[in-house]
Amino acid sequence: MKEVSEYYRDKVAVVTGAASGIGLALAETMLSYGAKRVILADLNEVNMAREAARLNLTYPGRALGLRCDITKEEDVKEMVRQGAGFGGGRIDLLFNNAGAGFSGHFPEQTNADWEKAFSLNFYGAIYGIRAVLPLMQAQGGGHIVDIISGIAFAPMAYQTMYSATKAALNALTLALRYELWDENIRLTSATPGTTATAIWAGMEAPPDAQSPEQSARTILAGVANNERLVLGDEADASGARNCFTPEAAKDFDDYLLNVARKRRSGEWVV
Ligand SMILES: NC(=O)c1ccc[n+]([C@@H]2O[C@H](COP(=O)([O-])OP(=O)(O)OC[C@H]3O[C@@H](n4cnc5c(N)ncnc54)[C@H](O)[C@@H]3O)[C@@H](O)[C@H]2O)c1
Repeated sequence: MKEVSEYYRDKVAVVTGAASGIGLALAETMLSYGAKRVILADLNEVNMAREAARLNLTYPGRALGLRCDITKEEDVKEMVRQGAGFGGGRIDLLFNNAGAGFSGHFPEQTNADWEKAFSLNFYGAIYGIRAVLPLMQAQGGGHIVDIISGIAFAPMAYQTMYSATKAALNALTLALRYELWDENIRLTSATPGTTATAIWAGMEAPPDAQSPEQSARTILAGVANNERLVLGDEADASGARNCFTPEAAKDFDDYLLNVARKRRSGEWVV
Protein backbone atom coordinates (compact mmCIF):
# COMPACT_ATOMS: atom_id res chain seq x y z
CA MET A 1 0.00 0.00 0.00
CA LYS A 2 1.29 3.45 -0.89
CA GLU A 3 2.08 5.94 1.85
CA VAL A 4 -0.46 8.78 2.02
CA SER A 5 2.38 11.28 1.88
CA GLU A 6 3.40 10.10 -1.60
CA TYR A 7 0.25 11.60 -3.08
CA TYR A 8 1.31 15.06 -1.91
CA ARG A 9 5.03 14.87 -2.63
CA ASP A 10 6.15 17.63 -5.03
CA LYS A 11 2.56 18.82 -5.49
CA VAL A 12 1.36 22.43 -5.52
CA ALA A 13 -1.70 22.99 -3.34
CA VAL A 14 -4.03 25.91 -2.70
CA VAL A 15 -6.01 25.96 0.53
CA THR A 16 -8.67 28.61 1.17
CA GLY A 17 -9.35 29.62 4.76
CA ALA A 18 -5.83 28.44 5.53
CA ALA A 19 -4.97 31.04 8.16
CA SER A 20 -6.65 29.04 10.90
CA GLY A 21 -8.14 25.72 11.97
CA ILE A 22 -8.58 22.87 9.52
CA GLY A 23 -7.28 24.81 6.50
CA LEU A 24 -4.04 25.64 8.29
CA ALA A 25 -3.66 22.03 9.40
CA LEU A 26 -4.25 20.83 5.81
CA ALA A 27 -1.56 23.22 4.55
CA GLU A 28 0.96 22.31 7.26
CA THR A 29 0.37 18.57 6.96
CA MET A 30 0.81 18.64 3.18
CA LEU A 31 4.12 20.47 3.64
CA SER A 32 5.21 17.80 6.11
CA TYR A 33 4.25 15.21 3.47
CA GLY A 34 6.63 16.84 0.99
CA ALA A 35 4.36 19.19 -0.97
CA LYS A 36 6.46 21.44 -3.18
CA ARG A 37 4.47 24.63 -2.58
CA VAL A 38 1.38 25.48 -0.55
CA ILE A 39 -0.66 28.65 -1.02
CA LEU A 40 -2.56 29.84 2.04
CA ALA A 41 -5.48 31.98 0.85
CA ASP A 42 -7.45 33.83 3.50
CA LEU A 43 -9.36 37.01 4.21
CA ASN A 44 -7.64 37.44 7.56
CA GLU A 45 -4.35 39.03 6.52
CA VAL A 46 -2.86 39.15 10.01
CA ASN A 47 -3.31 35.44 10.73
CA MET A 48 -2.41 34.50 7.17
CA ALA A 49 0.87 36.46 7.19
CA ARG A 50 1.80 35.11 10.63
CA GLU A 51 1.11 31.48 9.69
CA ALA A 52 2.80 31.70 6.28
CA ALA A 53 5.90 33.17 7.96
CA ARG A 54 5.86 30.41 10.60
CA LEU A 55 5.56 27.67 7.95
CA ASN A 56 8.39 29.20 5.93
CA LEU A 57 10.69 28.86 8.94
CA THR A 58 10.25 25.08 8.86
CA TYR A 59 9.74 24.75 5.10
CA PRO A 60 11.76 27.63 3.59
CA GLY A 61 10.23 29.18 0.49
CA ARG A 62 7.44 26.63 0.24
CA ALA A 63 4.50 28.58 1.70
CA LEU A 64 2.86 31.70 0.30
CA GLY A 65 0.09 33.64 2.01
CA LEU A 66 -2.31 35.46 -0.29
CA ARG A 67 -5.13 37.72 0.78
CA CYS A 68 -8.33 36.57 -0.85
CA ASP A 69 -12.01 37.04 -0.15
CA ILE A 70 -13.51 33.92 -1.69
CA THR A 71 -16.92 35.60 -1.99
CA LYS A 72 -15.41 37.82 -4.70
CA GLU A 73 -14.71 36.01 -7.96
CA GLU A 74 -12.09 38.55 -9.08
CA ASP A 75 -10.17 37.97 -5.82
CA VAL A 76 -10.24 34.21 -6.35
CA LYS A 77 -9.05 34.51 -9.98
CA GLU A 78 -6.17 36.76 -8.93
CA MET A 79 -5.23 34.47 -6.02
CA VAL A 80 -5.15 31.47 -8.38
CA ARG A 81 -3.10 33.43 -10.93
CA GLN A 82 -0.51 34.42 -8.31
CA GLY A 83 -0.65 30.98 -6.70
CA ALA A 84 0.08 29.28 -10.01
CA GLY A 85 3.02 31.67 -10.48
CA PHE A 86 4.40 30.58 -7.11
CA GLY A 87 3.76 26.96 -8.06
CA GLY A 88 5.84 27.19 -11.24
CA GLY A 89 2.74 27.28 -13.46
CA ARG A 90 0.86 24.43 -11.75
CA ILE A 91 -1.86 23.91 -9.18
CA ASP A 92 -2.32 20.21 -8.45
CA LEU A 93 -4.70 20.45 -5.53
CA LEU A 94 -7.36 22.93 -4.50
CA PHE A 95 -9.01 22.71 -1.09
CA ASN A 96 -12.16 24.83 -0.95
CA ASN A 97 -12.12 24.99 2.83
CA ALA A 98 -13.05 28.55 3.88
CA GLY A 99 -16.50 28.59 5.38
CA ALA A 100 -18.57 29.49 8.41
CA GLY A 101 -21.27 27.84 10.49
CA PHE A 102 -24.16 30.27 10.07
CA SER A 103 -26.85 29.81 12.72
CA GLY A 104 -30.08 31.58 13.65
CA HIS A 105 -33.85 31.43 13.69
CA PHE A 106 -35.34 31.14 10.19
CA PRO A 107 -38.10 33.79 10.54
CA GLU A 108 -35.50 36.36 11.49
CA GLN A 109 -33.23 35.69 8.51
CA THR A 110 -33.46 37.87 5.41
CA ASN A 111 -32.62 37.10 1.80
CA ALA A 112 -29.46 39.12 2.32
CA ASP A 113 -28.46 36.73 5.14
CA TRP A 114 -29.09 33.73 2.90
CA GLU A 115 -27.13 35.29 0.07
CA LYS A 116 -24.20 35.91 2.41
CA ALA A 117 -24.22 32.29 3.55
CA PHE A 118 -24.36 30.89 0.01
CA SER A 119 -21.78 33.38 -1.12
CA LEU A 120 -19.21 32.07 1.40
CA ASN A 121 -20.07 28.37 1.75
CA PHE A 122 -21.12 27.65 -1.84
CA TYR A 123 -20.21 30.29 -4.43
CA GLY A 124 -16.72 30.65 -3.00
CA ALA A 125 -16.08 27.04 -4.01
CA ILE A 126 -17.61 27.57 -7.46
CA TYR A 127 -15.25 30.50 -8.03
CA GLY A 128 -12.31 28.37 -6.91
CA ILE A 129 -13.23 25.46 -9.16
CA ARG A 130 -13.79 27.74 -12.15
CA ALA A 131 -10.46 29.48 -11.61
CA VAL A 132 -8.33 26.31 -11.38
CA LEU A 133 -10.13 24.27 -14.01
CA PRO A 134 -8.38 25.63 -17.14
CA LEU A 135 -5.02 25.14 -15.45
CA MET A 136 -5.81 21.57 -14.39
CA GLN A 137 -7.16 20.76 -17.86
CA ALA A 138 -4.03 22.16 -19.49
CA GLN A 139 -1.68 20.26 -17.15
CA GLY A 140 -3.61 17.00 -17.60
CA GLY A 141 -5.23 16.63 -14.17
CA GLY A 142 -5.69 17.78 -10.62
CA HIS A 143 -7.73 17.22 -7.48
CA ILE A 144 -10.37 19.54 -6.04
CA VAL A 145 -11.55 18.95 -2.47
CA ASP A 146 -14.63 20.66 -1.10
CA ILE A 147 -14.91 20.79 2.67
CA ILE A 148 -18.52 20.22 3.60
CA SER A 149 -19.82 19.25 7.05
CA GLY A 150 -21.62 16.36 8.69
CA ILE A 151 -24.60 18.71 8.78
CA ALA A 152 -25.10 17.94 5.07
CA PHE A 153 -26.35 14.53 6.29
CA ALA A 154 -28.03 15.67 9.50
CA PRO A 155 -29.70 19.01 8.71
CA MET A 156 -30.23 20.69 12.06
CA ALA A 157 -32.71 23.27 13.28
CA TYR A 158 -31.36 26.78 13.87
CA GLN A 159 -28.68 26.00 11.28
CA THR A 160 -30.83 25.98 8.15
CA MET A 161 -28.33 28.10 6.23
CA TYR A 162 -25.36 25.96 7.23
CA SER A 163 -27.28 22.76 6.40
CA ALA A 164 -28.47 24.02 3.02
CA THR A 165 -25.16 25.51 1.89
CA LYS A 166 -23.12 22.43 2.80
CA ALA A 167 -25.67 20.02 1.28
CA ALA A 168 -25.58 22.08 -1.92
CA LEU A 169 -21.78 22.04 -1.96
CA ASN A 170 -21.78 18.27 -1.48
CA ALA A 171 -24.17 17.79 -4.41
CA LEU A 172 -22.13 20.08 -6.64
CA THR A 173 -18.93 18.22 -5.79
CA LEU A 174 -20.29 14.73 -6.33
CA ALA A 175 -22.05 15.56 -9.60
CA LEU A 176 -18.98 17.32 -10.97
CA ARG A 177 -16.76 14.39 -9.93
CA TYR A 178 -18.21 12.32 -12.77
CA GLU A 179 -18.39 15.16 -15.25
CA LEU A 180 -14.64 15.74 -14.94
CA TRP A 181 -13.47 12.18 -14.17
CA ASP A 182 -12.41 11.40 -17.75
CA GLU A 183 -10.28 14.55 -17.82
CA ASN A 184 -8.31 13.18 -14.86
CA ILE A 185 -9.66 15.90 -12.61
CA ARG A 186 -10.72 14.36 -9.32
CA LEU A 187 -13.30 15.77 -6.95
CA THR A 188 -13.78 14.77 -3.34
CA SER A 189 -16.26 15.94 -0.76
CA ALA A 190 -14.95 15.84 2.82
CA THR A 191 -16.39 16.40 6.28
CA PRO A 192 -13.73 17.22 8.88
CA GLY A 193 -15.70 15.78 11.80
CA THR A 194 -16.26 17.86 14.92
CA THR A 195 -13.03 19.80 15.30
CA ALA A 196 -11.82 22.27 17.91
CA THR A 197 -11.27 25.47 15.89
CA ALA A 198 -12.27 29.14 15.91
CA ILE A 199 -15.57 28.18 14.23
CA TRP A 200 -16.86 27.45 17.74
CA ALA A 201 -16.11 31.05 18.81
CA GLY A 202 -18.41 32.14 21.59
CA MET A 203 -19.19 28.60 22.69
CA GLU A 204 -17.34 25.55 23.90
CA ALA A 205 -16.31 23.03 21.26
CA PRO A 206 -17.81 19.65 22.26
CA PRO A 207 -15.47 17.78 24.63
CA ASP A 208 -14.94 14.99 22.10
CA ALA A 209 -13.90 17.42 19.34
CA GLN A 210 -10.77 16.29 17.54
CA SER A 211 -7.76 18.46 16.76
CA PRO A 212 -7.43 20.21 13.38
CA GLU A 213 -4.34 18.05 12.70
CA GLN A 214 -6.35 14.89 13.24
CA SER A 215 -9.09 16.10 10.86
CA ALA A 216 -6.50 17.12 8.28
CA ARG A 217 -4.81 13.71 8.37
CA THR A 218 -8.13 11.90 7.86
CA ILE A 219 -9.09 14.17 4.98
CA LEU A 220 -5.67 13.89 3.31
CA ALA A 221 -5.72 10.09 3.59
CA GLY A 222 -9.16 9.89 1.94
CA VAL A 223 -8.18 12.36 -0.77
CA ALA A 224 -5.01 10.38 -1.55
CA ASN A 225 -7.26 7.35 -1.97
CA ASN A 226 -9.51 9.30 -4.36
CA GLU A 227 -12.51 8.72 -2.10
CA ARG A 228 -15.80 10.16 -3.24
CA LEU A 229 -16.79 11.24 0.28
CA VAL A 230 -14.40 11.43 3.22
CA LEU A 231 -16.13 11.28 6.60
CA GLY A 232 -14.12 12.90 9.37
CA ASP A 233 -15.50 11.10 12.40
CA GLU A 234 -17.91 8.38 13.45
CA ALA A 235 -20.82 10.80 13.99
CA ASP A 236 -20.50 12.02 10.39
CA ALA A 237 -20.26 8.43 9.13
CA SER A 238 -23.40 7.51 11.05
CA GLY A 239 -25.24 10.58 9.72
CA ALA A 240 -24.24 9.75 6.14
CA ARG A 241 -25.32 6.13 6.59
CA ASN A 242 -28.65 6.83 8.22
CA CYS A 243 -30.06 10.23 7.37
CA PHE A 244 -31.77 9.32 4.12
CA THR A 245 -32.42 5.65 4.82
CA PRO A 246 -36.19 5.04 5.10
CA GLU A 247 -35.58 2.39 7.79
CA ALA A 248 -33.90 4.97 10.04
CA ALA A 249 -36.38 7.79 9.40
CA LYS A 250 -38.16 7.50 12.73
CA ASP A 251 -34.93 7.44 14.76
CA PHE A 252 -33.58 10.41 12.84
CA ASP A 253 -36.83 12.30 13.35
CA ASP A 254 -36.55 11.74 17.10
CA TYR A 255 -32.89 12.74 17.17
CA LEU A 256 -33.28 15.91 15.08
CA LEU A 257 -36.45 16.97 16.91
CA ASN A 258 -34.61 16.61 20.20
CA VAL A 259 -31.79 18.79 18.85
CA ALA A 260 -34.33 21.45 17.78
CA ARG A 261 -36.08 21.48 21.16
CA LYS A 262 -32.85 21.60 23.16
CA ARG A 263 -31.52 24.43 21.03
CA ARG A 264 -34.81 26.34 21.45
CA SER A 265 -34.38 26.04 25.20
CA GLY A 266 -30.88 27.49 24.94
CA GLU A 267 -28.77 24.32 25.03
CA TRP A 268 -26.57 24.09 21.92
CA VAL A 269 -26.45 20.33 21.34
CA VAL A 270 -25.11 18.72 18.15
N1 LIG B 1 -14.60 22.88 13.06
C1 LIG B 1 -15.58 22.03 12.84
O1 LIG B 1 -16.08 21.36 13.79
C2 LIG B 1 -16.12 21.84 11.45
C3 LIG B 1 -17.05 20.80 11.25
C4 LIG B 1 -17.56 20.60 9.98
C5 LIG B 1 -17.14 21.41 8.93
N2 LIG B 1 -16.24 22.41 9.14
C6 LIG B 1 -15.84 23.22 7.98
O2 LIG B 1 -14.43 23.29 7.92
C7 LIG B 1 -14.04 24.49 7.24
C8 LIG B 1 -12.95 25.19 8.04
O3 LIG B 1 -13.49 25.59 9.28
P1 LIG B 1 -12.65 25.73 10.64
O4 LIG B 1 -13.40 24.96 11.67
O5 LIG B 1 -11.23 25.46 10.39
O6 LIG B 1 -12.93 27.28 10.95
P2 LIG B 1 -11.95 28.52 11.22
O7 LIG B 1 -12.88 29.63 11.59
O8 LIG B 1 -10.85 28.15 12.14
O9 LIG B 1 -11.31 28.81 9.80
C9 LIG B 1 -12.00 29.44 8.75
C10 LIG B 1 -11.02 30.32 7.98
O10 LIG B 1 -11.73 30.83 6.84
C11 LIG B 1 -11.37 32.20 6.69
N3 LIG B 1 -12.41 32.92 5.94
C12 LIG B 1 -13.62 33.33 6.39
N4 LIG B 1 -14.27 33.99 5.42
C13 LIG B 1 -13.44 34.02 4.34
C14 LIG B 1 -13.54 34.57 3.04
N5 LIG B 1 -14.63 35.26 2.65
N6 LIG B 1 -12.51 34.41 2.19
C15 LIG B 1 -11.39 33.73 2.58
N7 LIG B 1 -11.24 33.19 3.80
C16 LIG B 1 -12.25 33.35 4.68
C17 LIG B 1 -11.21 32.71 8.12
O11 LIG B 1 -10.44 33.92 8.16
C18 LIG B 1 -10.53 31.53 8.80
O12 LIG B 1 -9.12 31.64 8.71
C19 LIG B 1 -15.32 25.31 7.07
O13 LIG B 1 -15.80 25.17 5.75
C20 LIG B 1 -16.29 24.66 8.05
O14 LIG B 1 -17.63 24.83 7.66
C21 LIG B 1 -15.73 22.64 10.38
